[in-house]
Amino acid sequence: MTIVMDKNEISAQPRVRVPQHVAVVMDGNGRWAKKRFLPRVAGHKKGVESVRAVIRAAAKAGVKNLTLFAFSSENWKRPSDEVQALMTLFMQALTNEVQELHKSRVRIRLVGDLSRFSPALQQKIQESHHLTENNDGLNLNICVNYGGRWEIVEACKKIVEKCIPSQEITEDLFAQNLQIPDSGDVDLFIRTSAESRISNFLLWQLAYSELYFTPVLWPDFNEEEFNKALDWFAERERRFGKTSEQISLKEAQ
Ligand code: IPE
Ligand code: IPE
Ligand code: MG
Repeated sequence: MTIVMDKNEISAQPRVRVPQHVAVVMDGNGRWAKKRFLPRVAGHKKGVESVRAVIRAAAKAGVKNLTLFAFSSENWKRPSDEVQALMTLFMQALTNEVQELHKSRVRIRLVGDLSRFSPALQQKIQESHHLTENNDGLNLNICVNYGGRWEIVEACKKIVEKCIPSQEITEDLFAQNLQIPDSGDVDLFIRTSAESRISNFLLWQLAYSELYFTPVLWPDFNEEEFNKALDWFAERERRFGKTSEQISLKEAQ
């Protein structure tokens, strides 16, 4: 399967309000496999197809930033054979997909504490960053060994290391010291598999996100399901503390 997109396809589906930044907790791989009497890893493998579909759908819809939660800092607590299988899968996915993503002008960034990964995986990650860093298409952030609290603590450390005086520390300055400052706040948060929790994902960036929870398990999530989430988002009235009347007035102008 390929995710290469032609230019006409990218602009084929105009939507009135497209989120600039979509973040996804890709959950339910294990349950998908269990329902089929398969090992959990079969769910993770099938989940890679959903990742392809969602990257493609996001680029097609005009989403600028897509952040996917692939492995949390807490996921190391899983049985070691599952952790090992996931590491193998990351390596395979990067090896097999990066060239195609590069052709589609996708900029790839793996976000998290990468130091815990094997030297070979770290090398592959660096190659992916290097190859795609100047691409001007979709910004694809893949969170691995990532935790929202870790990201906030890392930002604090950076600010302290730069000896920035406390009176100069603003919300904007803080956000600039996060791991992916240019992707900005999350507009639309999606979590699959009927769980309605954040699980330590993007704690800072989710402050004003629209939260979309679907019972669909990640391996069953596809372009159609992603578009349903975009359609739901397009109907939201985002008030950011204002009144509904103020928002309607602004939109009428
Ligand atoms: C998400 O699916 C993938 C990772 C967390 C790596 P799960 O593996 O959490 O699937 P469930 O929640 O057990 O069904
Ligand atoms: C969150 O899913 C992390 C990823 C999707 C990578 P989990 O399945 O690990 O989350 P919890 O444990 O159910 O909160
Ligand atoms: Mg889970």
